Amino acid sequence: MSTGLEAYLREQGAPQSLSELILATADACVEIAQLVRFGAAGDLASASGAENVQGEVQKKLDILANDILLRDCAKAAGLKAMASEEMDDVVPVRDLDGEGWLLLFDPLDGSSNIDVNVSIGTIFSILPAPRTEARPAIEADFLQTGRAQAAAGYVVYGPQTTLVLTVTGAPAVFTLAADGSWTPSGATMSIPAKAKEFAINASNHRHWSEPMRAHVEGWLAGADGPRGRDFNMRWIASMVADVHRVLTRGGVFLYPWDKRMGEKAGKLRLLYEANPMTLLVERAGGASFDGKNGSILDTPVTGLHQRVSVMLGASEEIAILIEAGL
Ligand code: AHG
Ligand code: MN
Ligand code: MN
Repeated sequence: MSTGLEAYLREQGAPQSLSELILATADACVEIAQLVRFGAAGDLASASGAENVQGEVQKKLDILANDILLRDCAKAAGLKAMASEEMDDVVPVRDLDGEGWLLLFDPLDGSSNIDVNVSIGTIFSILPAPRTEARPAIEADFLQTGRAQAAAGYVVYGPQTTLVLTVTGAPAVFTLAADGSWTPSGATMSIPAKAKEFAINASNHRHWSEPMRAHVEGWLAGADGPRGRDFNMRWIASMVADVHRVLTRGGVFLYPWDKRMGEKAGKLRLLYEANPMTLLVERAGGASFDGKNGSILDTPVTGLHQRVSVMLGASEEIAILIEAGL
C-alpha cells in the first residue's frame, strides 16, 4: 500500500513501468522494516556463515533483505535484471527487448550497526535497460555511469522508516505510516553550500593521503586554524544514515581512498552505494568528488563491484577538496 508515493510518481510523470518497479522496491523495504523492527537484533546480526564477493562476512539480515528484494521486485513487469552488493553475478529476470529497467541495490547498508540498534538502510539505483535483440541481461549492461540513472533512492530504518527518492527533481521524502503506506513528509531537501558539519571515520587518519590529513586537521583546528571557523563532527557508520543527515541538515560525508586500499579506488561501492546517494545529493544542490575524475556520477564504470573514493555534500566544501587535489 503506497498511496502517497503513487500520487507523487504520477505527478513526476514517471513511466508506468518505472513507477511499478519503484513501488515494488518500496514494498520490499516495508517488509525489511518489519524484520528490522521485530526481528531479534542479536540473531539477525549474527553471521550467516557465508561471505560476499567482496570477502565480507554476510549477516543473516544482509541475506534476508537481499532475498526479499529479489522476490518482490521481480514482480514488476518492466524489470529485466538485478544486481546486488551481496551477489557475485547479475540475476536476469526477463529478456531485454524494448523499454525496461535494471535494478541495483545494497540490501542492507550499515550491517555493523544491526546489533547495536542504530540506523541502517537499503539503497537502490535504477538504470535503463539497453534496447537490444531479445536476450538475458549480462554484467556489461549494468556498466553505466551514475549520470544514466533513471531513479535512485534509499530507505532508512531508524526511529522512523523514511524513504527518500529522486526520479527527475529534488529528492522527495516519505514516512512509513502505521497502516503500511508511504506518506509524503513535505520536507524539501536542499544542501546549503557551506558545511558546518563533517562525517569521516577519523580512526583512518594515519592511512589517508597527506592532503586529506591536512584538510581534516583544518576542520579539527576550527576557529583557531586555517579555516577560521568551527566544524561539528558526526559518524554513524551507516552511509545511508550519514548521507540522510547531510541531505536533511547539510554538511559533508567522506569515505576517501586510503593507503591500505592500494589499487582499489576506495571502500564504498560505486554502483550500489555511491551513485544512488550522489544522485540524491546533487539533486539537492550538493556536489561530489571521486578523488580523480570529478563528480562521482561521471566515474567510468568498469565492473559491477567496483569501489570508489567518496566525497559528497556541501558544494563549497567539495570545491575546496577538489582544489586541494584530494
Ligand atoms: P555495508 O554494511 O553495506 O557493507 O556498508 C558499510 C559501509 C558504509 O555504510 C559505512 O559508511 C562504512 O561502511 C562504515 O565503515 P567503517 O566501519 O570504516 O566506519
Ligand atoms: Mn553498504
Ligand atoms: Mn550492505
